[in-house]
Amino acid sequence: MLRKKISAAALAALLVLEGSFAFVPAQAVREEETDPPLLWDDDVCPRGDVVRDDVLLAEDARLILRASVDLETFSPETALLADVDNDGAVTASDARFVLRMSVSLEPLFSHVPGPPATIEAAQVCLVCGKELAPKLPDPYQYTKNGFRIEEKDGITYIDGVMVVNKTYSLPASYAPGDLHQDCYDAFYRMAAAARRQGLSLYIASGYRSYALQQSLFTRYCNRDGVAAAERYSARPGFSEHQSGYAIDLNSITNSFANTSEGRWVAAHCWEYGFILRYPKGKEWATGYMYEPWHIRYVGTDLSLTLRDNGLTLEEYFGITSIYPWDL
Ligand code: DAL
Ligand code: ZN
Repeated sequence: MLRKKISAAALAALLVLEGSFAFVPAQAVREEETDPPLLWDDDVCPRGDVVRDDVLLAEDARLILRASVDLETFSPETALLADVDNDGAVTASDARFVLRMSVSLEPLFSHVPGPPATIEAAQVCLVCGKELAPKLPDPYQYTKNGFRIEEKDGITYIDGVMVVNKTYSLPASYAPGDLHQDCYDAFYRMAAAARRQGLSLYIASGYRSYALQQSLFTRYCNRDGVAAAERYSARPGFSEHQSGYAIDLNSITNSFANTSEGRWVAAHCWEYGFILRYPKGKEWATGYMYEPWHIRYVGTDLSLTLRDNGLTLEEYFGITSIYPWDL
């Protein structure tokens, strides 16, 4: 065991050290002590507490050892004790990490200024004992409601769901050519259930290419003016129909809502993984007027959540639907 003599003057010099370690005297050490004072006495204080915000604190009869610890990776709630040995090595563990630190003690015993105390900190997996790599910055962006946004090949996925609205577009080259199979399967299941009620559901408009949307949007702009067309028709690259997950059912008129089919769809499409994409009174969120005929396949986990909470995709994810050039 390392036993070193330390004077009060030397102790005072230890008060401020570079780095995150500091030895602080708990009380003055008398030079005339017969027994040489120890830097650290394991017999007196073999352990310390990891306490108080980010401070690792240990003390024996004369010295207090403080170290700051990284709370991103280390939890003082679950790591209440640290081992301190006489060589200056400190070990503390929480449920996930072992924190090891050591400090070079030698300069602390000299009146000649030495190099600053050196600190080594390593985080070691408790299970396998391997040193853990430093935490990398999170490469993802998140929506206002905390859902992860991923962009792959110009397509935006939020919490794994392809999102197409006035904020999130599709590249002109994205052309699945038809509805996706899972969307078709869900539609046929839904149409079969409707048929059992004597109702007839059919696809009036499913997948639309970028070029087809371009000609539709241009036609509506010429007919009604751009401002009016913007409220019910997407610009090319911004239509959900290009995604292959959107379907216009039966008749594309508001009166569809008051047909038996329209009422049945509004009540039951959710059970098959579809959502009413542009509900009444939600133009502020979706960017589009009420469209009782336009459904979007998202799978039943999400469709039931949206139904139960009365939310649009935009409200649930915490995203906008505004053309970038309109901001
Ligand atoms: N009618 C919808 C908004 C579209 O044009 O995609
Ligand atoms: Zn539509």
